[in-house]
Amino acid sequence: MKDNSKLIGYIFEFAWILPSVAIPVSVITAVILTAFAVGIRVPDIAGRIEPQAIDQTAPFNQPGLKELAPGKYEATYIAQTWLFTPTQIEIPAGSDVTFIVTSRDVIHGFKIVGTPVNMMVVPGQISKITAHFDRPGEYLLVCHEYCGVGHHVMSAKVIVK
Ligand code: CUA
Repeated sequence: MKDNSKLIGYIFEFAWILPSVAIPVSVITAVILTAFAVGIRVPDIAGRIEPQAIDQTAPFNQPGLKELAPGKYEATYIAQTWLFTPTQIEIPAGSDVTFIVTSRDVIHGFKIVGTPVNMMVVPGQISKITAHFDRPGEYLLVCHEYCGVGHHVMSAKVIVK
């Protein structure tokens, strides 16, 4: 009888040990998978910029889309209350686009719905992220960081043909 209760004790202990090992292992596995297999990336801080000098500083003195090579683009954006410049870009399907973004005034968000592009745009800082666009369609670019009364209308379009 005494031995039996000891055995039950071991079983209960094991039942607690198992999830306490399995849960962190599965969390770490999920982090590794999203980082390396699924392609979710933390945006780079690509540099610093003086917000007052945006219009004189390359590449922000000429915001918009630039073709670097066939299928390789660079899109430079300025975020400000409450619009993105440019308001619309068009790229062919299968393109890689590097988004280079800064803010003229307050903190904005930069999210392209249905893609992994999701970053904050901080005045004084340049945010950069590269994404691949396979599926043709109209992608909505939204500000997802509250930036004042016009926040909800702050959007632009990425058109993939
Ligand atoms: Cu810009 Cu919200």
